Amino acid sequence: MRLVVVSNRVPSPRAGEKAAAGGLAVALRDALRERGGLWFGWSGGVSETPERTPRTIVHGQIAYEQVDLTAIDRQEYYLGFANRVLWPSMHYRLGLTEFSRDDFAGYLRVNRMLAESLAQRLRSDDIIWIHDYHLLPFASVLRELGVKNRIGYFHHIPWPPIEVFGAIPAGRHLLEAMGAYDLVGLQTATDAGNLVRGLIETTGAAMDRRGRLRMAGRTVRVDAFPIGIDVDDFRRFADRASGLRLVRQMAQSLGDRRLVIGVDRLDYSKGIVERIEAFERFLVANPQQRGRSILLQITPESRAEVPEYAELGQRIDQAVGRINGAHGGLDWTPVRFVKRAFSRPVLAGLYRHAAVGLVTPMRDGMNLVAKEYVAAQDPADPGVLVLSRFAGAARQMPDALIVNPFDKSEVAEAIQTALCLPLEERRERHARLVAGLEARDVSWWAGSYLAALSRARRRAKPKLRTVARSEADRFAAA
Ligand code: G6P
Repeated sequence: MRLVVVSNRVPSPRAGEKAAAGGLAVALRDALRERGGLWFGWSGGVSETPERTPRTIVHGQIAYEQVDLTAIDRQEYYLGFANRVLWPSMHYRLGLTEFSRDDFAGYLRVNRMLAESLAQRLRSDDIIWIHDYHLLPFASVLRELGVKNRIGYFHHIPWPPIEVFGAIPAGRHLLEAMGAYDLVGLQTATDAGNLVRGLIETTGAAMDRRGRLRMAGRTVRVDAFPIGIDVDDFRRFADRASGLRLVRQMAQSLGDRRLVIGVDRLDYSKGIVERIEAFERFLVANPQQRGRSILLQITPESRAEVPEYAELGQRIDQAVGRINGAHGGLDWTPVRFVKRAFSRPVLAGLYRHAAVGLVTPMRDGMNLVAKEYVAAQDPADPGVLVLSRFAGAARQMPDALIVNPFDKSEVAEAIQTALCLPLEERRERHARLVAGLEARDVSWWAGSYLAALSRARRRAKPKLRTVARSEADRFAAA
């Protein structure tokens, strides 16, 4: 049985540990490395006459298959519908959405194109695992093309209640398309509950006695599978990091100051401006900390052509400039803001040096930075994680200092508490957090999901509404 993974982006195998495209890419590479298989999706590149046959690079046990998109496909499918409608709505930010029928038609068109490209090369015993919000209708196209294999979907970001999701003009069609999957996995029980209620209230799906949904003549299981990390791997990076030039330079420049660290893609869901302002409050409330601690915020740029992201970049620049101007001195800059990506070994080394890991998203599916920060700590003298209660990770990490990121004073107090926590308590909290990470690491995540997908029963002769083409036509014609 071959595992076929499909995600919007397929990183280049040569990117190695440099890949900084977010948690999804790292987790999938870890999961595929163990069992081998095929990884199919967009190359991230654009060409005017893209080949429909993917470029294949075999690396170890994984065959990476990448296709390009046209500029208009990228605009409508990726920048438009996926990242200006689905991403903000799934993060409970309807005010930031910008819906266009052309973008939705482009979203369905690219899903169809990718599914058609993959379908030609599928084997009858392949197990197919689709990832993330770019590809919600993917299985409905495969079913239309006659694919009978087990098909699972995993949603890496939050799934909001139907009162939010229902505002997406195309929301109903997307929910109906979910009926083509055998198993839908989400990060938390709350996300799973939100989706189930949405399906029941919108599509007429009904729950059977075994807790599975009956939808349009098929059975769909919806459940939570919180994603994890490769704990040993990350710990090893941290153990060896003192040999890395960038890590040594950082440690030297720090001197005996305490390091507070934040690492996030440039994204409004991450609460970066709010966090920087909370750090300012911490300095104002604790004048003895001036000159003694610094916030290092590392933020690789992302989706820069989406206007809301460009605007956020400017807001962060302004907040950093204002705070450094107001509080900095000749030999101390309170906030260091670095707008670039670092390799995972370097990040592990920086985490190891940080007395506090600040992970305070306004809303997040899981957040693997929280897990990596903990894994990178020295068990004998660990730092303290300050974690937003709106990150999926908060469910699994109650030994972090849990905060509400909307309350900057609360975050400021948590930074001070974290810096003052006695060694014994830091060790105990860290040991419990690590035990949790080890019990539910990335192997557990992939293994338990795939076991559930193998068990999922499909009914013979599914009768499905063919969502993708009819909706694409309707929206294109409108
Ligand atoms: C999040 C999403 C992923 C995405 C990543 C990077 O983690 O869940 O699907 O790949 O962000 O975003 P980008 O738009 O650069 O692919």
